[in-house]
Amino acid sequence: MCGIVGCIGKKEAQPYLISGLHRLEYRGYDSAGIVTISNDNKATLLRAKGKVSSLESLIGKNTSKDTIGIGHTRWATHGEPSETNAHPHQSGNVYLVHNGIIENYKELKTSLKDHVFKSQTDTEVLAALVNSFYNNDTELVDAVTQALQLVVGTYGIAVVSARNPDEIIVARSGSPLIIGIGDDETYIASDASALIGYTTQAIYLNDGEIAVCRRDGVKLRDLAAQPISAQVETIEIDMQAIQKQGYDHFLLKEICEQPVTLRSTLSGRVNVEDELVKLGGLNLTVEEIRDIEHVTIIGCGTAYYAGLLGSYYLEQLVDGLTVDVAMASELRYRSFHLPKKTVALVISQSGETADTLACLRELKRRGVKTLGIIIAVGSTIAREVDGGVYVHAGPEISVASTKAFTSQAVTITMFGVQIAQAKGSGAKDVAKFIKELDQLPNEIEAVINNYKDRIADLAKRYAHYEHAIFFGRDTLYPVALEGALKLKEISYIQAEGFAAGELKHGPIALVDDTFFEVALILDNWLFDKSLSGLAEVNARGGHIIAITNSKKQIDAEEVLVIDTKLDLLAPLVLNVAQQLFAYYVTVAKGFDVDQPRNLAKSVTVE
Ligand code: F6R
Repeated sequence: MCGIVGCIGKKEAQPYLISGLHRLEYRGYDSAGIVTISNDNKATLLRAKGKVSSLESLIGKNTSKDTIGIGHTRWATHGEPSETNAHPHQSGNVYLVHNGIIENYKELKTSLKDHVFKSQTDTEVLAALVNSFYNNDTELVDAVTQALQLVVGTYGIAVVSARNPDEIIVARSGSPLIIGIGDDETYIASDASALIGYTTQAIYLNDGEIAVCRRDGVKLRDLAAQPISAQVETIEIDMQAIQKQGYDHFLLKEICEQPVTLRSTLSGRVNVEDELVKLGGLNLTVEEIRDIEHVTIIGCGTAYYAGLLGSYYLEQLVDGLTVDVAMASELRYRSFHLPKKTVALVISQSGETADTLACLRELKRRGVKTLGIIIAVGSTIAREVDGGVYVHAGPEISVASTKAFTSQAVTITMFGVQIAQAKGSGAKDVAKFIKELDQLPNEIEAVINNYKDRIADLAKRYAHYEHAIFFGRDTLYPVALEGALKLKEISYIQAEGFAAGELKHGPIALVDDTFFEVALILDNWLFDKSLSGLAEVNARGGHIIAITNSKKQIDAEEVLVIDTKLDLLAPLVLNVAQQLFAYYVTVAKGFDVDQPRNLAKSVTVE
């Protein structure tokens, strides 16, 4: 949430700042701003409401040759989206950009009598606080350190001073920051994607660390001003992964690349011939895996739904295993109890979600073994879990999550197979799951190739509705929740997902001509029960689109029969049809597919 960039070197700073902000725009697009400092101590501050392109249009008249600068793209927390509330915030010579929330900003503000506040942000308070310690005898890093000692909350910050064009100070507590090491250049980014093409060498800042970034290198210290040694790591994202590659939108690209990303998720892990699954990185012995009695799964939003779907598969795969799934934003404040021999699966695309991270830390505090199922390599959650699996799905740039869902659910399933094999239980289903895991990428490819046009046509015809209900039973219940989330977050059609059996307990009262319904139906032992739910909605004048793998008669306004040989994993195939549907509805409505209103990728605040 929010993006930070910065650079100091020999080249002009503005081009990197703008390019970096474009790459990080998916983390917030309410406003954007940059400041650069010249060698003769002049600051060029540019800020604009809205997207980075609005900021970019200011550059023409304000081009600077300065070689040091910082920038920010904002997702509003305190104060409306406006130019005044845009970062960088200034106080005296100090310019500061910030991700996170300063919880005690009101209290701090009362003590800062010398500063005239212009914005409604907590960030301006932090800028003024730093400036209050920044007198003629003080180094910027010391002023920042003193200020941070008084702060309660979360932050990733970058600070420059018009008095000193030779350093950028960055600090982190709860909000990611990465320092890229170039040749006589140092870069700053809150997300590795902004560094691609500039450098592959990076230092991931840890909580409580402050860095002094200069042209010729970086020095780290802690909040007590004690030096810390820095560990330089290699960033492994390639340029292609963050480009649209000919697609109209990142979302369509990310939906369509699922066969490829899924093959990477499965690669080297599923061995069909020997009917074996082996996930590296779990840091668990076979005995420890065999002893697992309880799995608790946590995540938020789409990651939570992937976890929910995964929980059905874990139960099917492992006899006697208890599984529960919790939304991290809820679990973190509950007085929950976990039995012994619990393993927690922490699901996150970004690896930075604040609620998920807070749960992870609480679980670790209680001594629970935590395993991450993460996409973003080097992210905070990935670094803090006891073990886990990178799902190798590549970065998601579109704000709405798609390929992550598929790869996360599949990874949980692989984990289930591994537990089942360690315990020696459920042999029949294990073989079937392994076979279907292997077939899944091709089956998803077929949906994309064979049904895209039909789904686009369907989407155009249903785009005018104001409301939608998605429903399904068993493994299709999480898929219904995910289908509704995808549709609502990008098309703004109010959409809710329900367990099909629950409709008659209340939600069916909603059905009228302003609604359409998506009924998800599998050709399995629940087929007849699914048809009764459908009939009940039909009887009340529903406008049902049935999405199914069944060729049997289904009475609905539209029936989309997805031809797939899969059975257990067919929900993941139907979900891809839903993803395409949400995409094409949004295109038909002319909304911003990749950056829907009010949202941002990577929710690093509560
Ligand atoms: C929905 C979506 C969000 C995320 C959620 C968790 O399309 O993207 O619901 O799934 O914010 O994010 P991660 O997976 O990064 O923890």
